Amino acid sequence: MKKIAFLTLLALFSYAKEVVNVYSHRHYDIDKELYKEFEKESGIAVNVVKANAEELIERLKVEGKNSPADVLITVDVANLYQAKSLGLFQPIKSKIVDSSVATNLKDSDNNWVALTKRARVIVYNKEKLSDSNFSTYEDLAEPKWAGKVLIRSSNNSYNQSLVSSMIAHLGEAKTQKWLEGFVKNFAREPKGSDRDQMRAVASGEGDLAIVNTYYLGMMIESEKQEDKDVANKLGIFFPNQNSYGTHINVSGAGILASSKNVANAQKLIEFLLSDKAQELFAKANYEYPIKSNIKTSELVKGFGEFKEDTIKLSVIGENNKKAVELMDKAKWK
Ligand code: FE2
Repeated sequence: MKKIAFLTLLALFSYAKEVVNVYSHRHYDIDKELYKEFEKESGIAVNVVKANAEELIERLKVEGKNSPADVLITVDVANLYQAKSLGLFQPIKSKIVDSSVATNLKDSDNNWVALTKRARVIVYNKEKLSDSNFSTYEDLAEPKWAGKVLIRSSNNSYNQSLVSSMIAHLGEAKTQKWLEGFVKNFAREPKGSDRDQMRAVASGEGDLAIVNTYYLGMMIESEKQEDKDVANKLGIFFPNQNSYGTHINVSGAGILASSKNVANAQKLIEFLLSDKAQELFAKANYEYPIKSNIKTSELVKGFGEFKEDTIKLSVIGENNKKAVELMDKAKWK
């Protein structure tokens, strides 16, 4: 009798489906494909809750220990840093993570790791300007750019991280001064997405915009002819090639402190860092792979080679609060 009960229990256990529950801020189609591929390979079902980082972090705070989530995936280091500061993560103990990701692209306590890279670049109207007009982010605060600069609002974490990196490179006082000149040069009150900034450059509302590289890729390959027309009008410039390099932004992941499926969570993160997943990220979403042995897509290669800012991303996270303060002070809406 006892033996039958034991066998029944064993059978039930082995039929209980392995799962990993993901809270994700990434809003790209390729992620769905990657999860499907992971399910096929591992037999672990992936359940995804999608929302923006702020909402997900709030939800994790409220759920506390009872949260069903195992992994948090978000864009931008500011969000990863905030989740770490709130104690939401546990260290990732993985040799694969240790060996495949450069030190500057992960948390010093292994609380989170970058999955993809993107560069925050200048795009400009080719009819009016050329590469020779540009040099650095700093230069965009010069009066010659008055009324010409398009960029989204200061509550956007991509912009906050760019300013955080400038604080690290230039110091607070110089960054504040830069911000004041830069904001004065805005073509309009900040609104819309990175793609909307490109549309506004193409329609002549301003001459240049600061955007993440993959959005340009999306516009070039868009099914909508009007997006393609916008992309055709734009040139791309990688700032700060003779100094600290172009600002790099990441999407990344961490295992939650409340996770009930730590081993599965680790497997998922390791899968997302596998050559296969890195290639898919690179091809389908026009992002830069984290691993140096993986090539970028042909389209992204066409943007050109460039020097990346290799500042430690955790420093950018640490500077976030200060960056928001300085942006407010400079009246960046
Ligand atoms: Fe994005």
